[in-house]
Amino acid sequence: MGKRLNGKVAIITGGASGIGEAHAHVFAAEGAKVVISDVQDELGECVVSAINKNGGDAMFVHQDVTSESDWARLVEATVNKYGSLTTLVNNAGVGSFKGVEEEDLEGFNRVVAICQTGVWLGMKAVMPELKKSGNGAIVNISSLYGIIGTPSMLAYHGAKGAVRLMTKSAGLEYAKQGVRINSVHPGIIKTPLASTLSDEYIQVITETTPMGRMGEPVDIANMSLFLVSDEASFITASEFVVDGGWGAQ
Ligand SMILES: NC(=O)c1ccc[n+]([C@@H]2O[C@H](COP(=O)([O-])OP(=O)(O)OC[C@H]3O[C@@H](n4cnc5c(N)ncnc54)[C@H](O)[C@@H]3O)[C@@H](O)[C@H]2O)c1
Repeated sequence: MGKRLNGKVAIITGGASGIGEAHAHVFAAEGAKVVISDVQDELGECVVSAINKNGGDAMFVHQDVTSESDWARLVEATVNKYGSLTTLVNNAGVGSFKGVEEEDLEGFNRVVAICQTGVWLGMKAVMPELKKSGNGAIVNISSLYGIIGTPSMLAYHGAKGAVRLMTKSAGLEYAKQGVRINSVHPGIIKTPLASTLSDEYIQVITETTPMGRMGEPVDIANMSLFLVSDEASFITASEFVVDGGWGAQ
């Protein structure tokens, strides 16, 4: 077990799968108490069992990130169990692979609710506890697709782009209040979400990625680990791309 997050209490949304699951393992291995939230209860409980079996300290709470009352319950459960809250990773997200005419209002609103509104609700819900801690940190998982555009992912690009600028706005607002807020922008990462992309699409992206491979969930978790640790104490309102060089082309 490492010690880079000793004394931290972290909520990780969408922690039952993929990038969120990797965050939960990495943070717990570095000494954080970890609260995993998700709509997938069984998978979330499995992640918690694995962490606790390995000597970590984790708990699962069912939560839909679009629900303000779920956020209040999650923060309350965290503070009741661990006595404080220092860290949030707003990771839960869903994809949408539709363009301007193909997208419908329900689909558009769902992506915005989960990927964008959920991130704001999360920052709002945790802020009183993070300010109280005097040393809080938030990482918002956006996407490389929150910085660049591609055809036919309209709602996703919009929501992820909004996360990038909400992060800068919130980072500036809380810069003198002991809470750092940064965004992380993954390229293509091997998770269940990416497996909804066509094989052809994945092949093209992999071949055009300068490092010649897809990313692993732990590649993203390691970036967040640094950002929420005290090693990043002078870093806020900034964006961090983890994409094997793809977006630089
Ligand atoms: N995989 C990639 O290539 C990639 C690239 C860029 C950004 N991202 C972002 O990384 C984050 C994690 O994605 P992933 O690839 O690990 O996907 P994933 O599908 O493996 O995990 C996402 C998790 O979010 C949960 N979730 C979905 N809706 C929710 C809701 N309303 N409330 C609570 N939890 C909810 C899901 O149940 C799931 O466990 C997302 O924000 C995604 O947009 C992923």
